[in-house]
Amino acid sequence: MDRKDVDRMLEAARDAQKKAHAPYSRFHVGAAVLDEQGRVHAGCNVENAAYPLGSCAEANALAAMVLAGGKRAAAIAVVGDGEKPVTPCGGCRQKIREFAGADTPILAADRTRVLGEYTLGQLLPHSFGPEYLKP
Ligand code: THU
Repeated sequence: MDRKDVDRMLEAARDAQKKAHAPYSRFHVGAAVLDEQGRVHAGCNVENAAYPLGSCAEANALAAMVLAGGKRAAAIAVVGDGEKPVTPCGGCRQKIREFAGADTPILAADRTRVLGEYTLGQLLPHSFGPEYLKP
């Protein structure tokens, strides 16, 4: 992956993390999606007093991509805190799958470094996707 694209994604995801609305878990997450046009779209987690209605950073970054007219996620970065890399939750892996393929890189970083690099195929093997529904 292009080093400049990685840096742009990490910067966007780190900026987004600072805007997280996470008063319940206090777990602040930012995400960034690089689209097929080379644009970066960011999202943060937005929690809700009705807990299950909260949304993840990755889902919100994908929604921003769609709103901007992006069609494919070429790469994704997720930024969270703690010792272990913050990887997308199961639901978000499937949401990413809608716009990405098995080879799509997913970076897990914290505020200063990249802690893990995966492909969507590693995180969501043998997955179901939109092409199954095409005639
Ligand atoms: N969260 C994300 O936004 N993305 C992840 O990859 C992991 C979890 C959020 C959901 C919730 O607001 C908080 O982190 C704790 O689970």
